[in-house]
Formats: sequence, C-alpha cells, structure tokens
Amino acid sequence: MRRTDILPMEERHLSQILAIEKESNPSAWSESGFRSELTNPQAHYFVALQDGTVVGYAGYWSVIDEAHITNVAVSPEHRRKGMGRTLVQYLLKDAAKRGIRCATLEVRAGNIAAISLYESMGFVACGVRKRYYPADRSDAVVMWLYDIEASD
Ligand SMILES: CC(C)(COP(=O)(O)OP(=O)(O)OC[C@H]1O[C@@H](n2cnc3c(N)ncnc32)[C@H](O)[C@@H]1OP(=O)(O)O)[C@@H](O)C(=O)NCCC(=O)NCCS
Repeated sequence: MRRTDILPMEERHLSQILAIEKESNPSAWSESGFRSELTNPQAHYFVALQDGTVVGYAGYWSVIDEAHITNVAVSPEHRRKGMGRTLVQYLLKDAAKRGIRCATLEVRAGNIAAISLYESMGFVACGVRKRYYPADRSDAVVMWLYDIEASD
C-alpha cells in the first residue's frame, strides 16, 4: 500500500487541486476561490499526497466552536480506498485540537457517496436548503456531527 502524507494546502498544490476539483464538483471552485482560502485565517485546508502527487484535499472553517467543512474531494482514480475518510478524520482531529466540539457541512442531496461517507462517520442529516447550488439548482442536505470526539 502506498504511503499517504497529509500536509497543509499550499499554493504549489493548486494546479493539481484544480484538476481534481473540475472532475469532482459540479460547482467547481475557481483558482481565486482556493487562493482566498489560503489567506483566510479561519480556514484550514489540507492535501493528501502520494509520491508527491495530490490525490485529495479537504478543508474547513473554524467558526467559534464549530467546524464548517467546506470542501472534500478525492481524485477519481483514488476513490473507494479510504482516502475520503482519512481526510475527514484529519479535519476532525485538527478541529478537536483547536477546541472545536462539533462539525457541519452541506452536501448535494443526490451525492450518495459523500452522504454515505459522512453518515458512516456519525454525521446526521438535519435539514435541507432548497436549490442551494446555483450550478444545477439542486438541494443541499445539512449534516451535523454533534460530538467530534465520538466520530469513527
Ligand atoms: C465523497 C468522496 C470524497 C469519498 O471519497 P473516497 O475516498 O472514495 O471515500 P472512502 O473510500 O474513504 O469511503 C468511505 C466510505 O464512504 C462511503 N462511500 C464512498 N464512496 C461511495 C459510493 N460511491 N457509494 C456509496 N458509498 C460510498 C462508503 O461507506 C465507504 O466505505 P466502504 O468503502 O468501506 O464501503 C469522493 O467520492 C469524491 O471525491 N467525490 C466527489 C467530490 C464530493 O462529492 N465531495 C463531497 C462534497 S460534500
């Protein structure tokens, strides 16, 4: 099994991130979107690297005692190997170290892969934001993990 390193996201990772983002997110973030996150003091973003290649990334905003998970993606050829779970677990550990107790996120209502991942980690669906995503006007499910420490 290949070794995976998780490191803070840096500008040098952006070209690989943008390629994965395009393949992963129907409302893909722009380069300037990622760049502004790199200088946002509330934002904490990480990349998963294998042999120096970005295979996934994830990030969250720390908002008082909550972690708002804003983006999680794994390159299509590296999916279903535990990378998504590893990245989200990493975010939750990082947040816990900062004294954060709970986590929340929005996910496309039809995104079974992501919803299954979050549910398997203890997140629960708490509501729907209608037509949340401008790209296709699809709904977002709002999910919460009330106790980060209890997550698998
Ligand atoms: C969602 C995503 C990050 C999951 O990454 P991944 O590395 O494939 O996930 P993992 O291998 O860690 O899977 C962990 C669990 O999630 C669930 N899961 C992941 N992909 C799934 C799928 N396609 N269908 C059903 N369940 C799935 C399973 O419970 C899986 O556990 P298992 O493999 O033991 O059955 C990945 O599919 C992705 O990048 N999708 C596009 C971007 C995206 O939708 N991001 C989320 C935005 S909110």
